[in-house]
Amino acid sequence: MKKIEFYRHNIEEEEIERVTSVLRSLFLTTGNEVAEFEGQLARFLGLPYTVAVTSCTAAMQLALIAAGIGPGDEVITTPLTFIGTANSILMAGGTPVLADVDRATGNIDPSAIEAAIGDRTRGILPVHLYGQMCDMEAIRKIADRHGLFIVEDAAHALESEWKESKVGHYGDYACFSFYATKNITSGEGGAISVKDEQQCLLLKKLRLHGMGESAVDRYTRHFDQYDIDVFGWKYNMDNIHAAILVEQLKKAERLTEARIRIFNRYSEALGNVEGIEIHVTRPEARHCCHLFTILVDPGRRDAIMEGIQKRGIGVSVNFYPLHLMSYYRQRFGYRPGMFPAAEEIGSRTISLPIYPKLTDDEIDYVIATVKDVVATA
Ligand SMILES: Cc1ncc(COP(=O)(O)O)c(C=O)c1O
Repeated sequence: MKKIEFYRHNIEEEEIERVTSVLRSLFLTTGNEVAEFEGQLARFLGLPYTVAVTSCTAAMQLALIAAGIGPGDEVITTPLTFIGTANSILMAGGTPVLADVDRATGNIDPSAIEAAIGDRTRGILPVHLYGQMCDMEAIRKIADRHGLFIVEDAAHALESEWKESKVGHYGDYACFSFYATKNITSGEGGAISVKDEQQCLLLKKLRLHGMGESAVDRYTRHFDQYDIDVFGWKYNMDNIHAAILVEQLKKAERLTEARIRIFNRYSEALGNVEGIEIHVTRPEARHCCHLFTILVDPGRRDAIMEGIQKRGIGVSVNFYPLHLMSYYRQRFGYRPGMFPAAEEIGSRTISLPIYPKLTDDEIDYVIATVKDVVATA
């Protein structure tokens, strides 16, 4: 039987060599490699600044704090996301308020955002689900009309566009993940894009206990006493992770093209199969194809997932809606039925393997297996 993992990364000799040279150098923590990666990522996005941190969750927490949220302030986000999205709002001292998704794409529905706005709303945290950006034009208009900030959760969407604008351009901040299964990875890692120099400096302080300078800045001169004028966290990326990401980012476009090809093959082969539905890709979107998901008939998802896994194929669920997690139910009183589109997708979705190292044979095997299991499970 074949064994097809859910994900295989693309760390190659270049990454290993670059990390090795960092390990042979003096500075392991935040320094030249981090600065190099931040500049490279900013150029990739066509934005002036990025700040590298240890995860996307940390990135979102710091962006929300830099945007000025405080206790009691509400931030509107989607229930159909990884728990880190809503947790980052709690970590920043705010309160998440959920708005249901568009059933066709799984992305947050702008009209549901509008309906969720209240006196305490300060910002919107849209998630570009699976690699397809939300309708950012509509969301920007809503934000401007109500004086709200936007932090984009771009964990799935490094290479995505909406109406030919790259991710991060409509929002005030965009947050990226370099977690182990992301399009480019350093095992763990994250970054924030930001348009304003003062905000960039603030984010650099917030990621390191409020200190304006990194250890490398401090120790390459004679030691100076430093001051702290803002409370901060300990989320600075180190040179080791940044070295991996510098090499990974060089390959990002090539890897995206490979994922798009696989996504299109899956769509063609599975799009018209009875018992399988796939999400709509909007014509305004450049979908970077981070995940490929199918929706199966209600009540059959777990049996179908089991059948696919028994034939050696790794699968995942993106996502179980977060408002149904015990902690969120208990703390916020959420109940089933409150966000029907997110709940329906969450109960019917299966994510299939999609990564450049999949061979043609493996893709054929996934397609044939999924069709067979859906017909017989
Ligand atoms: C949509 C989404 N947002 C946020 C995150 C959190 O990213 P990280 O693990 O880098 O904190 C993830 C991670 O998997 C994600 O899928």
